[in-house]
Amino acid sequence: MTPSDVKATLSFSDGSPSMELPLYKGSIGPDVIDIRKLYAQTGKFTYDPGFLSTASCNSTITYIDGDKGQLLYRGYPIEQLATGCDFLEVCYLLLNGELPQQAERDDFVKTITYHTMVNEQMQFFLRGFRRDAHPMAVMTGLVGALSAFYHDSTDIHNAQHRTIAAHRLIAKMPTLVAMAYKYGVGQPFIYPKNDLSYSANFMRMMFATPCEEYVPNPVLVRALDRIFILHADHEQNASTSTVRLCGSSGTNPFAAIAAGVACLWGPAHGGANEAALNMLEEIQRNGGVEKIGEFIKQVKDKNSSVKLMGFGHRVYKNYDPRAKLMRETCHEVLQELGLQNDPMFKLAMALEKIALEDDYFVSRKLYPNVDFYSGIVQRALGIPVSLFTAIFALARTVGWIAQLNEMIGDAEYKIGRPRQLFVGSPVRDVKPIAER
Ligand code: CMC
Repeated sequence: MTPSDVKATLSFSDGSPSMELPLYKGSIGPDVIDIRKLYAQTGKFTYDPGFLSTASCNSTITYIDGDKGQLLYRGYPIEQLATGCDFLEVCYLLLNGELPQQAERDDFVKTITYHTMVNEQMQFFLRGFRRDAHPMAVMTGLVGALSAFYHDSTDIHNAQHRTIAAHRLIAKMPTLVAMAYKYGVGQPFIYPKNDLSYSANFMRMMFATPCEEYVPNPVLVRALDRIFILHADHEQNASTSTVRLCGSSGTNPFAAIAAGVACLWGPAHGGANEAALNMLEEIQRNGGVEKIGEFIKQVKDKNSSVKLMGFGHRVYKNYDPRAKLMRETCHEVLQELGLQNDPMFKLAMALEKIALEDDYFVSRKLYPNVDFYSGIVQRALGIPVSLFTAIFALARTVGWIAQLNEMIGDAEYKIGRPRQLFVGSPVRDVKPIAER
């Protein structure tokens, strides 16, 4: 970390001695004030629920400028990566810091391909779930279960073991998501086929059956690959911070990733794509485009708790750059499939137009986020709504493991342990039950 010439001074109105706090400069983005010695020197904590102003770590992986609507993986703009690279090249970049040269790329693809199969026991574990279990419940269990297969062979303090764990996770997630899908629809599992690309292989495991081969359509494969690229990492979001905090205890990395899957499930985070499509379906059922006005009224009503899902972001206070790319993919996919007049797509476009012009959304800087469009694309690809967040988890796995490995590889890392402002009862005595 580069120290800044500027220092911050914290002073108190009650005459307590003031304290000088060092600042550090990032390579881009806001400086941070180092408060690590604050408690030791003042006996006080800082208070920041939701981490609105707190950097929990330093990282070299992903940078977001929310005001500009900019997203960089290792310095490269997402727009260039989404158009010039495939998902495995992006995985290599996130894990290693540089884009691969041809030989490195070939080697990486071979390594990932080599790990695509899961232990045969996994399907017996999966069979313990109800067929109608939510895929994210299943994925939380399956990814957690992987830890049992690789516990003794995974020493997180060994850099090579961390790399192998990363490769295994990236390789096996498509297999597990496809297995969760097949189980839900009662079809036989389809084993990976290693002469296909990462994304084409996933589509085949999803849509082939033992009686009918699936021939991947390159436009649709490219669309799915782009979904993976756009969701691959997003710096210290809720699920990534969960993975870091969970992994900071030194736990098994597969278990830490399972914690990330659990966090991602929530509708304010990865579950938003599912929630956005459910919302569109509900508006469609209740009258479609004609009823958008009424729906927007509910969204603006403070007492209704209805949100326009797929809109708004904690960091982007400008158009989400991923949403722009996903919007483009949405048009390509619908055109390829002859679905330009799909009522759901038309509804989404009408909703987007109204929201972008409405003062409620404009004044709060609420723009469509990636999930507003990714649901429409996935639905067109034939992926069921309940599986959307599992697709997100598949893609984000590389980000989680890259961030986890970065943290463990940092000599200064410590177990994460936030503090609190206690507002409960002061000390009191337990009374015998008859006197309570
Ligand atoms: N619909 C209606 N109003 C909204 C929305 C929305 N989607 N998002 C925020 N607002 C309002 C909010 O009520 C508040 O209004 P006021 O100032 O009058 O109280 C104002 O905008 C600021 O919102 P906030 O809740 O302080 O913002 P936040 O940074 O805490 O929340 C968010 C960010 C993503 C949780 C929220 O915008 C949201 O719930 N959006 C819908 C869910 C969604 O699409 N999530 C996916 C995020 S992208 C995928 C990912 O990276 O995980």
